[in-house]
Amino acid sequence: MNLLEKLDAAAAARKAMLPEGVGAFGIPIEEVYSATEARIGKRRVLLLGTNNYLGLTFAPECIQAAHKALDEEGTGTTGSRMANGSYYGHRALEREFADFYDCGSGIVFTTGYQANLGTISGLVGRGDTVLIDGDSHASIFDGCILSGAEIIRFKHNDMADMEKRLRRLGDRTETTLIIVEGIYSMLGDQAPLADIVELKNKYRCTLLLDEAHSLGVLGETGQGLVEKTGLQKEVDFITGTFSKSLCSIGGFCVSNHPQLDQLRYVSHPYIFTASPSPATIASTRAALQLLREGSHLRRQLWKNCTQLYNRLAEIGYQVGPEPGPVIAAILDNPKQALQIWQRLLEKNIYVNLILPPAAPDGKSLVRCSVNAAHTTEQMTYVGDSFANLYHEILQS
Ligand SMILES: Cc1ncc(COP(=O)(O)O)c(C=O)c1O
Repeated sequence: MNLLEKLDAAAAARKAMLPEGVGAFGIPIEEVYSATEARIGKRRVLLLGTNNYLGLTFAPECIQAAHKALDEEGTGTTGSRMANGSYYGHRALEREFADFYDCGSGIVFTTGYQANLGTISGLVGRGDTVLIDGDSHASIFDGCILSGAEIIRFKHNDMADMEKRLRRLGDRTETTLIIVEGIYSMLGDQAPLADIVELKNKYRCTLLLDEAHSLGVLGETGQGLVEKTGLQKEVDFITGTFSKSLCSIGGFCVSNHPQLDQLRYVSHPYIFTASPSPATIASTRAALQLLREGSHLRRQLWKNCTQLYNRLAEIGYQVGPEPGPVIAAILDNPKQALQIWQRLLEKNIYVNLILPPAAPDGKSLVRCSVNAAHTTEQMTYVGDSFANLYHEILQS
């Protein structure tokens, strides 16, 4: 099979799973009305599949800041952070992240994906080891591949399995980077950070925590799982993204280790790409301020999360181990997941469809992302719709 025939075979496998005309992936959003509503085709839909956890996509403070930066600094930096792409705003945002986490320093990357790629490949290399959770996001996995370090996975959130693998490493643990996530992106569950820190200290490893889905969501000021658990000083490196609670695009890494700065000189995903646009940086700075002051938004978010999680569980859906902004109905059968996804769209609700191999354990997911701008009535409508479909599709 040549290279193009291999792509044809992959396309045929995808089509076999998704019948013709079902545009579950890359669905065109024609118009966006607010943080919770948009038009898909002719339908005005409720958005329940975005990562807009604090509902800040239309925050006037962010929009005004972005407009001002566009007017004053232009549309793009047209260059790398290493060359001409470090404006005042990029450096200010780095200081603001360092201040937010009460850390020595911070680095801004062009995407959250590159924050993981750049941090991991800058920290470890050939001869080192990465110990990662089995449910890790692709950006973590790709960062590990780029680094050339040996990759060892432990079973998702399974501390006994993690310790077994650490024990086997012997004196190589000192050059081992453990990587976990604050909230896991598929089932919305949290890492057992206190246990992980205990093992990290016992075996003298280095720990990186990706707060992509937990930034803005957990902790009194929204730092994430480190703040919720009070373990800020125990985690060596924290990465995160601007594309979820901060409603723009970009990523960061913060650390108390002064060596973080050296990544600027060795990390290809930092050096060999253009820096985020001034408007992106300006809106992110405004959003970070709103996030820090946003305990009322977090309260509303958690009210919505708990309402929908409890409702889906009561109906009888299998859901993840704990409530969170990501709430997935877990299905054994991709056909049922597809049917539920399609029928929800007919009821004017847009959610994410996740089919194997993207979901853990070969399952299929109808994955909802809840945000602070959703209303109680919207959550009730979503719950009622899921209840109807449970009877219509799963019990027929
Ligand atoms: C856990 C995790 N880390 C990193 C990323 C990458 O962030 P971005 O999409 O902003 O590049 C994602 C994106 O979904 C994620 O879920």
